[in-house]
Amino acid sequence: MSTVPPNDYVPRLHTPLCELLGIPHPIVLGGMASGTAAELVAAVSNAGGLGILGASGRSPVEIREQTARIRDLTTAPFGLNVLLFYHDEVTVETALAQRPAVASFAWPTADQELAEVFARAHDVGARVMHMVARLDEAQRAAEAGADLIVAQGSERGGHVGMMSTMVLVPQVVSAVAPTPVLAAGGIADGRGVAAALALGAAGVLLGTRLLATPEAPLHPHFKQAILASDGHDTDLPEIPDLITGRARPGALACTWRNTLIQHWSGREWLLRRQQRPQVAADVAAARAAGDAEQAPLLFGQDAGLIEAIEPAGEVIARFIREAHAVITGRLAPLALPPASALP
Ligand SMILES: Cc1cc2nc3c(=O)[nH]c(=O)nc-3n(C[C@H](O)[C@H](O)[C@H](O)COP(=O)(O)O)c2cc1C
Repeated sequence: MSTVPPNDYVPRLHTPLCELLGIPHPIVLGGMASGTAAELVAAVSNAGGLGILGASGRSPVEIREQTARIRDLTTAPFGLNVLLFYHDEVTVETALAQRPAVASFAWPTADQELAEVFARAHDVGARVMHMVARLDEAQRAAEAGADLIVAQGSERGGHVGMMSTMVLVPQVVSAVAPTPVLAAGGIADGRGVAAALALGAAGVLLGTRLLATPEAPLHPHFKQAILASDGHDTDLPEIPDLITGRARPGALACTWRNTLIQHWSGREWLLRRQQRPQVAADVAAARAAGDAEQAPLLFGQDAGLIEAIEPAGEVIARFIREAHAVITGRLAPLALPPASALP
């Protein structure tokens, strides 16, 4: 008889995150702005994780439409994410008005009053999730009343801090206990989930892995670039933010080192000066055409662990199966009593 569980067998890894949000699996989709859409959010939530839609960069009409579409596709909880450093009150207001189960925030400026925005989220019945890249940011968020803190390490896709997941997660877990912490950055299989739980996290938040799914609203060429990357070909250039003209405080963008990035490396001063508008227009056209060499592609080092486009629900189920197998099959048998206690 085979001991390999069938693909529809999904065991449980029950953590305080599952309790807090009422979800079966401690896996969350990061609110990756235009890298998310209702279909991806609903697929993750329907699979028992928590889907989060990125609200920043969308108009109020689009936020309302996408939220309504999520509610058409799932009755499970989901979240909306807002990048705080834009100081974009309309987006905060519109996102909270949708009454998501989770209000997810990231990248505040030093002068922003987190307690005030968190209180507004609590007033609409949302749990507050806040992402940090530094220990002091985690303490600031916990003091301001966050229900959940995401500690995201420098392996991650998108904008990153300088601390690795391996160090930052246990640091933050110890500092903000008993507030549950999610690990983010570099997690692209069940081994990563098991490692995050071992570091004290109550769950994981995924970005790059869930971009390589049929439900992610990315051009197929961009998804293929994630599969082609071995992770070593990513960099932390300023170039994507110089092109958009929207720099994020303390954050560098983990980006695929394609022709565009190689061309502008060392010529950033030109982007800061006269050439930005033309390059921004060229990049927008390249993005629309699916030109993976001429548009900035933000994804993490964990692209080096991703080998296939897989439906989001299958990713969630596989991660749980793999993590469960690591914990029960690989780690538990390693834990023995002292040699003197053996017969
Ligand atoms: C293309 C892209 C866009 C992102 N945009 C956002 C965003 O708007 N808000 C946010 O909180 N996180 C954003 N992130 C970060 C993710 O939520 C998540 O923390 C990160 O991708 C986790 O690391 P991983 O990619 O290694 O899984 C983005 C990530 C990527 C790859």
